[in-house]
Amino acid sequence: MISSPIILAIESSCDDTSAAILRGNEVLSNIVANQAIHEQFGGVVPELASREHQKNIVPVVDTALKKANLSSKELNAIAFTEGPGLLGSLLVGGSFAKSYALALNIPLLAVDHMQGHILSHFIKDGEKQFPEFPFLCLTVSGGHTQIVLVEAPLKMKVVGKTIDDAAGEAFDKAAKIMNLGYPGGPLIDRLAKTGNPSRFEFATPNTEGLDFSFSGIKTSFLYQLQREMKADGSFIENNLNDICASYQHHIVSYLLNRLKEAVKIYGVKDIALAGGVSANSELRLQFEALAQETGSRSHIPRFEYCTDNAAMIGIAGYFKYLEKDYSSLSVTPKARLHF
Ligand code: KG4
Ligand code: ZN
Repeated sequence: MISSPIILAIESSCDDTSAAILRGNEVLSNIVANQAIHEQFGGVVPELASREHQKNIVPVVDTALKKANLSSKELNAIAFTEGPGLLGSLLVGGSFAKSYALALNIPLLAVDHMQGHILSHFIKDGEKQFPEFPFLCLTVSGGHTQIVLVEAPLKMKVVGKTIDDAAGEAFDKAAKIMNLGYPGGPLIDRLAKTGNPSRFEFATPNTEGLDFSFSGIKTSFLYQLQREMKADGSFIENNLNDICASYQHHIVSYLLNRLKEAVKIYGVKDIALAGGVSANSELRLQFEALAQETGSRSHIPRFEYCTDNAAMIGIAGYFKYLEKDYSSLSVTPKARLHF
């Protein structure tokens, strides 16, 4: 077995087509093709996403190889996202990875997208320290919200999860209600910068243990805006920054209060953030403050490794490769997958 294998990784679980090349834990290239087509619909349209993946996959892989200055013959394994995600999208990346592994006669590594988000912390990034095991990772994306206890690279346990919507969805749906566009998270983040975070209040759900619920928050947001709009038709326009700042602050506080409880329960030294929502500027700031308060070491991946990307699939594939945890060519992508 090669200790620093060259791995081609493919990620196509939602609306980004991405390919990366890693040598061991080092990223040689990480190409992401975004699909702007969904913006006009205010959300991802699954059928359109899979068609866009079909158009993008070959050029994206080609660019990743060129940028890494490598030919396909030098690859030692191929990693791809097995799930969870949109089935039609996963199938494009999965079929491509399987055919390529078969043609090149090299191992195939099937990766859980959520494990990929968490393991993005182990991508070599200058002098940046890796989290020490065991650690807690708050994984917040457009499809998931989880608190995960990570005991080893491939030994993880979900200790808290959303019982309905994900945190990213709460951002995206609020942005849709306000007609801001898609994806809503970065737009709300930007508008919140000049707003007052304590101007408006929203409902805090009552969930068991370390679980989350976002549908109630979203509904209370909708009702509050509908009520205000009846009295003043320009309410959203006139108060946009304060609405965004208050809503964002509410979601961030809710996420971090749960994480704080988890730190108390599991007594870990290291805490980490992962997933697209970890790009949120207030979440990053408050996360650092929580680490100070609890005496924890904090870990946030570099911005390009927070949102969906193939480098995170590559690093998870690398750990699987070291364990010789290869996948058979009969593996099929799964819309739902639990580790
Ligand atoms: O991990 P990701 O790229 O894809 C999924 O696996 O879902 O996460 C996408 C989510 C979207 O809901 C998007 O609105 C959110 O991450 N997001 C943000 C920010 N950047 C991306 N949410 C809040 N603030 C941001 N700056
Ligand atoms: Zn993701």
